[in-house]
Amino acid sequence: MRLEHCHNFNDFRELAERRLPSPIFNYIDGGADDESTYRRNTQAFENCDLVPNVLSGVSEIDLSVTVLGQKLAMPVYCSPTALQRLFHHQGERAVALAAQKFNTLFGVSSLGTVSLEEIAALVDIPQIYQFYFHKDRELNRAMMSRAKNAGIKIMMLTVDSITGGNRERDLRTGFSIPFKLTLAGMMQFVLKPMWGINYLTHEKFKLPQLDGHVDMSEGAGSIGDYFTNMLDPAMNWDDVAEMVQEWDGQFCLKGIMSKEDARRAVEIGCAGIVISNHGGRQLDGSRSSFDQLAEIVDEVGDEIDVIMDSGVQRGTHVLKALSLGAKAVGIGRGYLFPLAAAGQPGVERALGLMRDELERGMKLMGKTSIDQLTADNLRFR
Ligand code: FNR
Ligand code: LAC
Repeated sequence: MRLEHCHNFNDFRELAERRLPSPIFNYIDGGADDESTYRRNTQAFENCDLVPNVLSGVSEIDLSVTVLGQKLAMPVYCSPTALQRLFHHQGERAVALAAQKFNTLFGVSSLGTVSLEEIAALVDIPQIYQFYFHKDRELNRAMMSRAKNAGIKIMMLTVDSITGGNRERDLRTGFSIPFKLTLAGMMQFVLKPMWGINYLTHEKFKLPQLDGHVDMSEGAGSIGDYFTNMLDPAMNWDDVAEMVQEWDGQFCLKGIMSKEDARRAVEIGCAGIVISNHGGRQLDGSRSSFDQLAEIVDEVGDEIDVIMDSGVQRGTHVLKALSLGAKAVGIGRGYLFPLAAAGQPGVERALGLMRDELERGMKLMGKTSIDQLTADNLRFR
């Protein structure tokens, strides 16, 4: 299979699986425990039907939205994710350049493999900086001021990962960072030689956002270890209120699932929240983001930007979320599999297909701009 034969999420997933060593593929593809939240995230969209209107003159479609102070050409963005240079040697660079082509947002993770400064110099579009709150307050402060100096517009604090989710696929494969050259690791280089050559012939794997604070020479650890050892389980609303004050710009919480927490986010001065269960990678059994959307929009939708991610694979999923009042929708695996499959052209193809699906969906729904989408266009089973 080749890139031009990829027409949907599953096609990219399949191609990524062929290209990647299996521990890396399973790290991206996997969820926590029984992966029930992971499965439900996408299924949730199927409990909801679109009801179109016809004959409304749809020759011009405007997909633009304004979210967190930024005007985007389309309502879908690339949610921040870790370790992208493990998936493709260009990593974050490829995703940033692809997002720029579509004039949308992308995020750089605290666990990113290219520095936020390099990415800021590479593209003109605003980037989101995804923050993990470490036990080491010094590190937190240093990361915040680095982000300010790099001209980051949007700070996104992830609040659903206070401890590592139980990712059993990673336990089985022994996935760790940096990728270990154990016997099993060597075997993967033999099985996926193209990936191996690219990994070995490009600059050494590092986590530049954490430079000077995390020593990679000590050998490998798991993502779960990082969460559990480095992040501060004592983090509370007061800490975050302080961060919001200190940041003094667009501040957004990623991983809000209840309306009470959404209300508190408003109270401490957040500009937005992302309803997210981390793509089913943290608390298994958690409700799907789409199912939680309506009640949270009802609570705070007039006061802050309500965004959602987790499970989105299709343009029509996005249209359903926007109809319920989401301001924008994030994708994770929806661009990571394309990145792994083909680098920047892969991500561009995925975003292009998404844009086509959105445009086609809008036409078939009889809508010409995003603000025309309302809950009147939906029925739940
Ligand atoms: C993530 N996600 C994530 N989130 C975050 O805040 N910081 C991070 O470093 C990462 N890293 C990460 C790695 C991988 C491999 C995946 C799949 C996900 C979560 C991500 O931003 C987003 O919330 C989910 O991926 C959304 O779900 P879907 O679109 O993958 O179903
Ligand atoms: C993950 C992290 C790093 O989901 O957020 O693997």
